[in-house]
Amino acid sequence: MLRIGSLQLKNRLIMAPLAGITNLPFRLMLKKMGAGLVTTEMISAKGLVLGEKKTLAYLMSDPAEKPLSVQIFGSEPESMAEAARIAVDRGADVVDINMGCPVKKVVKTGAGAALLQTPEKIRDLLSAVRKACPVPLTAKIRSGWRPDSLDTLYIAGLIEDTGADALILHPRFASQGFSGNADWGLIRKVKDTMRIPVIGNGDVFEPSLALKMRAQTGCDGVMIGRGAVGNPWIFKQINALEAGLPPQSPTPAERKAFIMEHFHHLSRLKGERAAARIMRGLLIRYSKGLPHSSEFRGDITGIKDFDSLVAAMDAFFIGLEEMEP
Ligand SMILES: Cc1cc2nc3c(=O)[nH]c(=O)nc-3n(C[C@H](O)[C@H](O)[C@H](O)COP(=O)(O)O)c2cc1C
Repeated sequence: MLRIGSLQLKNRLIMAPLAGITNLPFRLMLKKMGAGLVTTEMISAKGLVLGEKKTLAYLMSDPAEKPLSVQIFGSEPESMAEAARIAVDRGADVVDINMGCPVKKVVKTGAGAALLQTPEKIRDLLSAVRKACPVPLTAKIRSGWRPDSLDTLYIAGLIEDTGADALILHPRFASQGFSGNADWGLIRKVKDTMRIPVIGNGDVFEPSLALKMRAQTGCDGVMIGRGAVGNPWIFKQINALEAGLPPQSPTPAERKAFIMEHFHHLSRLKGERAAARIMRGLLIRYSKGLPHSSEFRGDITGIKDFDSLVAAMDAFFIGLEEMEP
């Protein structure tokens, strides 16, 4: 089992921070599906320190999703330290520092992946947060800014020496975006030099790939992002594989029950009207790859109210059940 500082997780599987996706309703579902740790989307340290209502809302949590990792981003040591305090006050079990976001809006402020170019900034920022943060602290990095910039092993060593409790590595350079493959060989190299746990991340789209990543890299934990978006069952499937059992795909009835529960959490948080709007997008996500899903997507395009969406969903899943052998 994976231990991050003082926190013992129930397995080695972590849900990645995904902006616009890993909100409270989805995290609750991922937890139920067997993720050992779930992560908020990246949250602006500045916004937290300024007490912005919208930013503080990202910290909303529920005991059922715990332990929770809260990811913050920023470039100023003082505001990052203060943001970490706020996150911990509001229930963060782990604080994660974003050092990998390549998005222009973020890097132009010196935050996210821009930090990978400035080791002294990494040191100042991490040591300030370390002092302020009584819970386990992690840093999530990419391989570096670009292939000819600072060495990944150097950055990783610096992060370890500054007191982080674990390192999360998505082995692509910021300059790569999502192109090419994640370089799992680099996870191996980093793991071989580190004392703190190394969590591998990148391109785990199938349950078997989580086991393959661990076998190839020796990483202590596996973080999954895009692979869990359409298939949140992936955690359950990996846990089954690790127990020597075949990974089961959810039946149509299980899928429907999952979706209904997700909607229920959404409605509770946002109200039925807003939930119905979000639900349409989720239905598209959760029906992807299933038989007749393109017709289903067409059917629900114009539907706005909750009851009609549920009726369309019922019809779709009943159809699938009838097709089951
Ligand atoms: C839509 C989307 C949003 C993301 N948001 C964040 C974020 O808020 N913080 C972060 O550190 N990484 C973010 N990432 C990167 C993922 O956490 C992860 O490192 C990356 O997707 C590689 O893992 P995967 O191949 O399992 O998806 C995001 C990625 C995507 C596709």
